[in-house]
Amino acid sequence: MKSPRAKVLVINGPNLALLGKRQPEIYGRYTLEDICNQMIAVAEKENIQLDFFQSDSEGEIVTRIGQAKDNYDFIIINPAGYTHTSVAIRDAIEAVNIPCIEVHLSNIYKREEFRHRSLIAGVCLGQIAGFGKDSYILAVMAISRMLKSAES
Ligand code: DQA
Repeated sequence: MKSPRAKVLVINGPNLALLGKRQPEIYGRYTLEDICNQMIAVAEKENIQLDFFQSDSEGEIVTRIGQAKDNYDFIIINPAGYTHTSVAIRDAIEAVNIPCIEVHLSNIYKREEFRHRSLIAGVCLGQIAGFGKDSYILAVMAISRMLKSAES
């Protein structure tokens, strides 16, 4: 197998393991596994390697980001509820200096006011929100396009 163009760590935060059963009118009926499989299908075509991590624990997410240093080219993260509260996850992303894309299934700006603020977005390349599972696919596509422009 030829070596991947990029290694990407995909991190999902609290309650996202419940996708499929959790408020389907907001988050859809697909499971986290469905999303991961769709991402893999796109990433394989682009020769991008994806590794997945889900945790409900802020500390575990911080530790996993720390371990990613020098091992990954990009991070895609849905910090879920921690988006709006976690200085620690923000600091971890800054500390490892890995380009990061924040994703959300829902459009957080259309929802309750406390969801309008992301502590994470300011240390990310960008944020993709509101496209359901396609937010994750668009993040993989964004990485592929960045790699293409760096390669040309
Ligand atoms: C979410 C939005 C957050 O506000 C919420 O706490 C989540 C999911 C999303 O993907 O839309 O758990 O990150």
